[in-house]
Amino acid sequence: ATLEERSLEAVADYIKSGNARRIVVLTGAGISTAAGIPDFRSPKTGLYSNLARLKLPYAEAVFDISYFRNHPEPFYVLAQELYPGKFHPTISHAFIALLAEKGLLQMLFTQNIDCLERAAGVPADKIVEAHGSFATQRCIECRVEFPDAEMRAHVTRGDVPKCNECKGLVKPDITFFGEALPRDFSEKSHNTAMADLVLIIGTSLTVYPFASLPEMARKGIPRVLFNMEKVGSLGSRLDDVLELGACDDGIRKLAELLGWTDELDDTWRN
Ligand code: OAD
Repeated sequence: ATLEERSLEAVADYIKSGNARRIVVLTGAGISTAAGIPDFRSPKTGLYSNLARLKLPYAEAVFDISYFRNHPEPFYVLAQELYPGKFHPTISHAFIALLAEKGLLQMLFTQNIDCLERAAGVPADKIVEAHGSFATQRCIECRVEFPDAEMRAHVTRGDVPKCNECKGLVKPDITFFGEALPRDFSEKSHNTAMADLVLIIGTSLTVYPFASLPEMARKGIPRVLFNMEKVGSLGSRLDDVLELGACDDGIRKLAELLGWTDELDDTWRN
């Protein structure tokens, strides 16, 4: 199969040929829904359509820094539900770890804060957590870090942690609306321009600047979308491949075409 066919078969052949050695993966909440973590924007099941009980002025306020300053409680209700530790990586996460193991992963850019890429075994130096994560936290006033164990205790109880130094509000190092992305994002985004293959998994591509990463891919290199729906500009280039449906199904299909099914299952189980 040739790439002009815009098929997953052609993408598998391209990887097998050894010419795709710098694979960049871009992920969003859809890669973790099979793990039991809701995404944001899916109708009915997404977080934003299920926040009525938090009485927010608008759904995205729960991740808005100016709203958080005056009303931190709704975020901590969510944090209690979403806190890392209770979820397991999906097949799609395992596939990214397998790419890394094979030396084919140039970089993974994730918008997720669930830390499931690390849990799946993707090396830390290959992960850009574009919207931060729950891994660390600090005071929003004096910026002093807050201890992990104390944080876990607060989140588990569902109450709001206050800084031990200045009594300011403590927030995980998640990028809220109104905050700048971690420096890592701008420092490493050029990796997308170096990619010889870009895989986009489970994101609506609605939040910038992350949503501009697929545009950085060089013309003529394949961009493959594994998503329930068509998003962003995917499908507009000749070399785009759309694998619509549950991402774990599409990823399994690709792994099978590559002859990696057993390895993928091993990576997933370990
Ligand atoms: P969204 O909820 O906006 O989009 C998730 C996408 O994944 C949608 O297109 C779904 O159709 C798709 N999807 C869901 N389950 C899937 C599955 N099993 N297989 C394949 N596709 C599936 O989530 P993000 O794009 O990650 O920011 O949202 C971006 C940012 O908006 C988040 O990082 C978050 C949010 O506000 C912050 O919190 C700062």
